[in-house]
Amino acid sequence: MPQNTSLDVRPLASGDRAAWEPLWQAYLEFYEHTLPDAVSDLTWARFGDPGEPMAALGAWDDSELVGICHYVLHRSTWASGTYCYLEDLFTVPAARGRGAGRALIEATAAAAREAGAEKLYWQTHTGNTAARALYDQVARHEGFLVYERPLD
Ligand SMILES: CC(C)(COP(=O)(O)OP(=O)(O)OC[C@H]1O[C@@H](n2cnc3c(N)ncnc32)[C@H](O)[C@@H]1OP(=O)(O)O)[C@@H](O)C(=O)NCCC(=O)NCCS
Repeated sequence: MPQNTSLDVRPLASGDRAAWEPLWQAYLEFYEHTLPDAVSDLTWARFGDPGEPMAALGAWDDSELVGICHYVLHRSTWASGTYCYLEDLFTVPAARGRGAGRALIEATAAAAREAGAEKLYWQTHTGNTAARALYDQVARHEGFLVYERPLD
């Protein structure tokens, strides 16, 4: 499918909440996860707070939001600067294969570099073949596994 040359990737602004919400909910559904509204409200508020180390970017096709990603800057014991964790990436099914996912990753890398980050990284499920087909083109799989331990 041809790449979409009319895509515009930019930080989401406070007025974009209504456009962001369905993509955020669809992303949570993709992971079969639900979140209390209060957490989504807090997450959205943090994106708009310059004192918070997290932000959201959107890929727009004219007036339609077709993709979102969220990233978090954090300290590292291995660096004097920061690292950037790309926590969420989602494009609407109708827009897939047109370059929105790639454009969001590249825009995150640019924003992270601008913010002084030394590294951008992210994780995905081993079975997410669509995501991995993209990630293998724009980053290196270093071979690490992710372990999780929920804390009560
Ligand atoms: C993963 C995801 C973000 C990719 O978004 P996208 O907008 O389709 O990505 P792009 O159009 O930029 O794809 C770029 C490359 O990825 C590869 N790719 C993307 N989807 C693919 C698929 N379904 N099958 C095979 N390759 C695929 C293609 O090789 C494409 O390369 P090309 O430009 O040379 O053709 C999107 O499929 C998605 O939102 N999936 C559901 C949520 C998800 O998995 N998020 C990531 C969680 S870690």
